[in-house]
Amino acid sequence: MKKFIIDADTGSDDAVAILLALQDPQVDVLGITVVSGNVPLQQGIINTLSTIEATEQNIKVYAGAHKPLVRDYIEIHSLSDFTEHVKSLSPVSASAQSVHGIDGMGDIGITSKFSEYEEKNAIDFLVETINKNPDEITLVTLGPLTNIALALEKDPSISTKIKHCYVMGGTSDGTGNVSAAAEFNIWVDPEAAKRVFDSGLKITMVGWDNSYKYAMLKEDEIKKLRALNSKLADFSVDIQKVLINLTKEWYDFYGFDLPDPITMAIALDNSIIEESQDLHVIIDTRDGITRGQTIVDYFNVENKNKNTRVVTKSSNKKFMNMLMDLLS
Ligand code: BDR
Ligand code: CA
Repeated sequence: MKKFIIDADTGSDDAVAILLALQDPQVDVLGITVVSGNVPLQQGIINTLSTIEATEQNIKVYAGAHKPLVRDYIEIHSLSDFTEHVKSLSPVSASAQSVHGIDGMGDIGITSKFSEYEEKNAIDFLVETINKNPDEITLVTLGPLTNIALALEKDPSISTKIKHCYVMGGTSDGTGNVSAAAEFNIWVDPEAAKRVFDSGLKITMVGWDNSYKYAMLKEDEIKKLRALNSKLADFSVDIQKVLINLTKEWYDFYGFDLPDPITMAIALDNSIIEESQDLHVIIDTRDGITRGQTIVDYFNVENKNKNTRVVTKSSNKKFMNMLMDLLS
């Protein structure tokens, strides 16, 4: 069995990624650590518990950071307010409730019977579990990197003990989804991202570009998921309600993209990667229009260490097959 730890800011696409890992018979999820990002921490915990509940499994959930390392974090519920906030170049970070719903799960009334999460906090869980299982843990991060940076601060030696870390964050092609330059997870906590990317951890970065290019579900794919007549497939589509409405309004088609699930899919099966390069990635922590940008040094002009395997192309077909298979 492959041992996984998932770190998530559970909103509607994190939930689908978590389902993929929990439904893969070759994977043992040792725990899920939660961080503020899409939604505030407590809501992220509820969403994680309700996602686990849908699988009828018993997976431990650990509460992590409720705000980024050095920045404040506020809730913003409407897209116009979020856009204004980003444009203002305020150093404060904000939730993505305008994209995933105020509850992060499409506002369709998801609740959880389970209310229990572990007493041990996420940082201690990460440090202890990684030390107990050197070179065995695959870490998949689906939210801002605050918890991982704090775990590295507590015990820097874990950077060499994690087998591999798959990061949903940044972009390989210069595009952004929060600003013209930055992807949400890195934008929320660029200081944490910098620490993690500079830590010596073996990182595969699955940027947002992989999501809009290779993990965009449109009417056909959604119909195929619905045709599975499966509780998990229906749950995965239902919770995208707010994102579906937003996609229709902005891009004029029915669908949604799945950044966290394609990252998880790659962690479960590396053959989904069609092209990647080992490169140096710089995180821009400065406030301003490029805050949170992942600057990819394709020509190694800075002559620095290749700290990241950057995924530049993935297989949409293999991703879709995995989604259909594991959610059926
Ligand atoms: C990332 O930000 C969040 O909105 C998603 O859950 C994903 O982790 C995409 O930029
Ligand atoms: Ca996420």
